Amino acid sequence: MKEKEHEALLKIARAAVENAYSVYSRFSVGAAILMENGEIVRGSNQENMAYPSGLCAERVALFYACSAYPGVKVKAIAIAARDAAGAWVEALTPCGACRQVMSEVIRRYQADFDVIVAGKKGEIVVVPASELLPAPFSL
Ligand code: THU
Repeated sequence: MKEKEHEALLKIARAAVENAYSVYSRFSVGAAILMENGEIVRGSNQENMAYPSGLCAERVALFYACSAYPGVKVKAIAIAARDAAGAWVEALTPCGACRQVMSEVIRRYQADFDVIVAGKKGEIVVVPASELLPAPFSL
């Protein structure tokens, strides 16, 4: 993927932040996934009064991508967030549960994908999803 494409996907993730339902944490996260067929899937964190029932933006987007387009590889996921004060979060890193789900997406489709976030100096950071979880759980 080219730098412009990373930038464009991050912009979509930022727009997805506005769809977060984060009334409890006030931490709003958006994710945008580019699929191999060119489709873009968005997700945002969805919280619930029974706190653990909520779901991170990454998993909302990844599970939706896999259910809407089974068999289609994930090329990249961009993630963005605003904190409780409304400020953009720099160097956001996915939680462990999302990393576990990412690792299974890699395994399922036998294809690594890029994780794209904004860095601390306004730069775009791209990391292979395979590098985020060194020892995923497996059955
Ligand atoms: N959250 C995400 O959606 N993605 C992350 O990478 C980290 C955390 C959500 C979960 C919860 O709704 C809120 O952010 C605060 O943890």
